[in-house]
Amino acid sequence: MKFFVDTADIKEIKELNDLGLLDGVTTNPSLIMKSGGKITEVTKQICDIVEGPVSAEVTATDYDGMMQQAKVLSKIADNIAIKVPLTWDGLKACRSIRNDMDRMVNVTLCFSANQALLAAKAGATFISPFIGRIDDMGIDGVELISEIRTIYDNYDFKTEILAASIRTVNHVKEVAMIGADVATVPPATLKALVKHPLTDKGLEQFLADWAKTGQTIG
Ligand code: E4P
Repeated sequence: MKFFVDTADIKEIKELNDLGLLDGVTTNPSLIMKSGGKITEVTKQICDIVEGPVSAEVTATDYDGMMQQAKVLSKIADNIAIKVPLTWDGLKACRSIRNDMDRMVNVTLCFSANQALLAAKAGATFISPFIGRIDDMGIDGVELISEIRTIYDNYDFKTEILAASIRTVNHVKEVAMIGADVATVPPATLKALVKHPLTDKGLEQFLADWAKTGQTIG
């Protein structure tokens, strides 16, 4: 499973990328707002750091507006994936961006398997089901990833399932077990994947015993 980081925080992106952990980045208007920067400038900075797909989201809601913004965003760098919402106009824009502009498209705000089916038919490069926001409604968001995996495998759709709105380390494990192609994970959750209390306890014991030997290495 590929790891994207879900942030527009340049410092975090650089740190994770230097570790070799990143296959891409996703942003959205809320994350750009948090970064405090201008969308074109922040996104350009991200694209200068990360080689993989960097999602930049349109904010227009009509087809013409989306296409006009997609042209602006696609000029930022070759690895930009244009992010469009899962609406009728968004699907039309997806089709045109794929066919006429030959750019990657990430169809976002997906909350049902039927929506994911439409996005695949429209030629989406990525579909972004928001599992955390479904969990917030008291429904199992991870189940949606499973449904989409089955449908895409049944018909051999090439659209990659990009599990989004990930809130916990358990989400990451579950979507990996189901076979999501990508998980886009907030930096804090990505870093939390390394933690295990038995690792900390074991290390503490080894260091205590090592101190008793009085030895040094090298
Ligand atoms: C994905 O592309 C979105 O940017 C993101 O995962 C949304 O997550 P949230 O529900 O935590 O805002």
